[in-house]
Amino acid sequence: MEKRIKGLALYPGSFDPFTFGHLDILERSSRIFETIVVTIARNSSKNALFTPAERKELIEECTHHLPNVQTEMFDGLLVEFAKERGASALVRGLRQVSDFDYEFRMAFANRRLAPNVETLFLMTSEHHALISASIVREIHSHGGDISSFVPARVLQAMNNK
Ligand code: PNS
Repeated sequence: MEKRIKGLALYPGSFDPFTFGHLDILERSSRIFETIVVTIARNSSKNALFTPAERKELIEECTHHLPNVQTEMFDGLLVEFAKERGASALVRGLRQVSDFDYEFRMAFANRRLAPNVETLFLMTSEHHALISASIVREIHSHGGDISSFVPARVLQAMNNK
């Protein structure tokens, strides 16, 4: 087995829905960290497509092949959850330059609140650089084909909504 960084890293987000872009970041981070916990923000949006519990189930189904990946939900501040769980890192995916502004502000805020929790950015594969959950929701709401954006299980769940 490859050597991985010991301890726990969180991969936080809304994951509404979980996309191939998220999966790509998870596959990369699962090769770097010993344990990675996908942390679903329970209170991220009032107009969510999937409930946090549905998102958790879908992510678990899509990450069976990654044995060091777990999925949990959290309320309130991410850094409080990170401290509670003893996580030393937060992983965020970067797709393009326009992500930087929001991501930097969030990372600096989180660092101010929890100086010992480090934010690490991973670049997605260029193949997934244009995927966002909101665009996926938008395309799907107009009947468009999203099969190249989300895993088959997520597509099926979206079609059932
Ligand atoms: O996938 P998203 O929607 O970009 O994820 C954003 C998320 C959920 C990671 C962020 O909004 C978050 O951490 N929410 C919990 C509340 C919190 O800690 N906010 C402070 C960060 S500025």
